[in-house]
Amino acid sequence: MSDPIPSLNGKNVVLGVTGGIAAYKSAEIVSRLRKLGAKVHVIMTRNGTEFITPLTMETLSSNPVVVDTFDRPERWEVEHVALAKAADLMLVAPATANIMAKMAVGLADDMLSTTILACQCPVLLAPAMNTRMWQHVATRQNVETLRSRGVCFVGPEGGHLACGDEGVGRMSEPVDIVRAACGLLCPRNDFQGLKVMVTAGGTREYLDPVRFLTNESSGKMGFAIAEAARARGAYVTLVRGYTTAPVPDVDQDIRVSSTQDLYDAVTGACGDMDVIIQAAAPADYRFRQTYAQKLKKEQGQDLVLEMQENPDIARKVGELRRPGQTLVGFAAETTDLTGHAREKMARKHLDLMVANDVTRPGAGFNGDTNIATLIWKDGEEELPLQLKREMADRILDRVLEIRK
Ligand code: PMT
Repeated sequence: MSDPIPSLNGKNVVLGVTGGIAAYKSAEIVSRLRKLGAKVHVIMTRNGTEFITPLTMETLSSNPVVVDTFDRPERWEVEHVALAKAADLMLVAPATANIMAKMAVGLADDMLSTTILACQCPVLLAPAMNTRMWQHVATRQNVETLRSRGVCFVGPEGGHLACGDEGVGRMSEPVDIVRAACGLLCPRNDFQGLKVMVTAGGTREYLDPVRFLTNESSGKMGFAIAEAARARGAYVTLVRGYTTAPVPDVDQDIRVSSTQDLYDAVTGACGDMDVIIQAAAPADYRFRQTYAQKLKKEQGQDLVLEMQENPDIARKVGELRRPGQTLVGFAAETTDLTGHAREKMARKHLDLMVANDVTRPGAGFNGDTNIATLIWKDGEEELPLQLKREMADRILDRVLEIRK
């Protein structure tokens, strides 16, 4: 990450520490936040204190550590509200599956969950858990619920886990958590005044009222970019096909069905845009003949369907380009990633290509993470496995570099 680290003078961070082996890294988070000038108040769950002592956190934060004891209820009553009111950021690192589940349903049965529920400031979670727990449908749903309420996440990262497994679940490094915290405490406004169009999701090509051709796109990558651009001050137009992920807040939300619809929507509005990022996965072909009624099965006969090429939206946008516009495409590849991506970038007149090898675990369709190579005229940058939301910011950073 290359953003400059701001001063956090006058900012109050409440750091929740829950019970996971990564709790030892919380000490470094406290010390980094304090070095930047933030005041840090630590709340630990009982399980958190099994991994790192309150004394360590108290010494590093120079503030009393609140642990989930109910032995002084009168103090507890005051503290959870007082800390929640004072907080400019509520950060939970490590955030276990348990605390996320409690947050998702609004449980307030200890000091940390009670304080979180009383907070009106931004909330940032740095999850840490075993890969299977992270991938469990319950955790996935809790993460989606929390995201849809505006809770932010940093990590978890892929790699070697304390339990011996390999996979996603490792807490992000303190330096990255503190950078994410800085982003929320001192939001960047570097897209202020820019109009950004983002396409997301898959299109459908109907054969008849009940059958269609489509792909696996969930919309997550495009949505992450739309959310990031808006958080950085852009006026965001989202053009979305069929998606399964929660739709972010945007300024203009346009829904489309087929590739032709996407073409019409994008070419109709692109003249007004400063940045156009095409993360959608449009169907390249449509059925030459379609049917108004359900096509009947002919017993014992094969069905041969003819397909015709759909218009290439990105290419048309490239042809219509006006000075000052920055055009970004995605390349979903299964072979010769950068070769195909460079060829598409040239053919579609793009300034930046986000090339993802969709055969790699953790990359491409549907998941929360991606792995990509950013390709532009003069260079390339590898983006290792990371959340699509984090990748969105890296793509936007590169867009600004290109626009300089
Ligand atoms: O939505 P997710 O589940 O998060 O998955 C994300 C993603 C894998 C869909 C995304 O990261 C991605 O790679 N999107 C592009 C998919 C695609 O259509 O790739 P392509 O290589 O076929 O097309 C290259 C570019 O041309 C893309 O920007 C595409 O939007 C555009 N295109 C494609 C076909 C077409 N007829 N017109 C176009 O403009």
